[in-house]
Amino acid sequence: MSRKRILTGTRPTGPLHLGHYVGALENWVRLQKDYDCFFLIADYQALGDHIEEIQRIRQAVIEVTLDWLAVGLDPVRSTFVIQSAIPEFAELHMLLSMLISVPRLERNPTLKAEMKDLGRRENISVGFFTYPVSQAADILLPKAHLVPVGEDQMPHIELTRELARRFNQTYGEVFPIPEGMVGRVARLVGTDGQAKMSKSLGNCIYLSDDAATVTEKVRSMYTDPTRIRATDPGHVEGNPVFMYHDAFNPDVAEVNDLKERYVLGKVGDVEVKARLAKALNAFLDPIREKRAYFQSHREQVREALLEGTQRAKKVAEQTMAEVRAAMRIASYV
Ligand code: TRP
Repeated sequence: MSRKRILTGTRPTGPLHLGHYVGALENWVRLQKDYDCFFLIADYQALGDHIEEIQRIRQAVIEVTLDWLAVGLDPVRSTFVIQSAIPEFAELHMLLSMLISVPRLERNPTLKAEMKDLGRRENISVGFFTYPVSQAADILLPKAHLVPVGEDQMPHIELTRELARRFNQTYGEVFPIPEGMVGRVARLVGTDGQAKMSKSLGNCIYLSDDAATVTEKVRSMYTDPTRIRATDPGHVEGNPVFMYHDAFNPDVAEVNDLKERYVLGKVGDVEVKARLAKALNAFLDPIREKRAYFQSHREQVREALLEGTQRAKKVAEQTMAEVRAAMRIASYV
């Protein structure tokens, strides 16, 4: 088995959106050809800030799996894994947590920002605080070489690399040092023009939105605020409507023509948006079709999760045996 390995994953808290697609999913689909891929549904990680919503997380596990299948992740070629079904993830997390100091974890900029969003320190569970270490365990357990993720996840990859080096230096070579990889559009703006498309900001277009919903969301998108009439010269730069055109409209000639006319005040926002809605719906149609297929073939969704998790369990046991042997904490009696 010479193919290099990927582990990447999703926190199942709701359906996936266009930002997930261009930031990561698109890479995952493409990389399946050349890598032995493990796609993790990180339901334990999701509990860190949703412990009172276990039912919602359970539902989101299925939603996310449907989204994965819909965009073309292939459960035969690749391995779908449910984190909570493999206790070795938790075991490795626990051991790795002893190889990192509290201040080092506190310096993680993504974690820092998320803790700020949670508000008072009382709102932050210890489990949430240590999730980047759990994520390092996710990556190291299958000995991944590559981790394709959204830009916000890169600090966690850096931490994983440090932990892998630390482990290898202290106990002997067990883990490859994994590399991160960010997608074509590192950070997609929200429909409201906010820096990031994010469920909590309510500015998302979901992969599972129907055509009418997408058209309506595009119609009410934030655009050039300095433009009052269609005859005013408009700004293309930094305009979310054009950023989406660039990301999702394959008709480059049409996009260039719209841009030229926009800066001259020769096309209205209504037309630019109508063409965007059309392009987005054309992009989403095949995804919707596949999603509908799997929605009515739930046994195949279940199968994908069960088979993948079984496969991953063997890999997990093998690595944990190596970890315990390296640390000399195997049997005492
Ligand atoms: N934190 C990631 C997210 O929110 C999900 C995740 C969990 C992950 N474990 C991972 C990503 C391991 C990459 C590798 O999307």
